[in-house]
Amino acid sequence: GAPVRVNISKIEPGQQMVAEWRGQPVFIVRRTEEILGNLEKVAGQVADPESKDSEQPAYVDPKNRAIKPELLVVVGLCTHLGCAPSFRPEVAAADLGADWLGGYFCPCHGSKYDMAGRVYKAQPAPLNLPVPPHSYETDNVIIIG
Ligand code: FES
Repeated sequence: GAPVRVNISKIEPGQQMVAEWRGQPVFIVRRTEEILGNLEKVAGQVADPESKDSEQPAYVDPKNRAIKPELLVVVGLCTHLGCAPSFRPEVAAADLGADWLGGYFCPCHGSKYDMAGRVYKAQPAPLNLPVPPHSYETDNVIIIG
């Protein structure tokens, strides 16, 4: 499929937009300093903190999984059986896990991911959400693919 050009200028801090690439949803999140700080706090709780086994381009930072720390770009399909995870940026609800600081929650079988799309340990999903190939045309335009 052809690369897709996405204008990200309207994403509010702490929020996401959903683009489409090759018929798949792509989640683009504008991460705040607080969100980036939380990634370090949960690093010991995620299954593959530096994405050694998960799909991401070599030019992406292994820790925050992004080209620019403030902008996460991931394919929005659960790595278990492909459901669409829901965006839960501020979850602290005990019923979803007291230590979870928010991210993505898959409604199908309950897999939890952090705000870098990294899956927590012992979830049905085995891997982090894939980071697709992407680049910046300008500060406000991402090319996916
Ligand atoms: Fe997401 Fe099963 S498809 S947990």
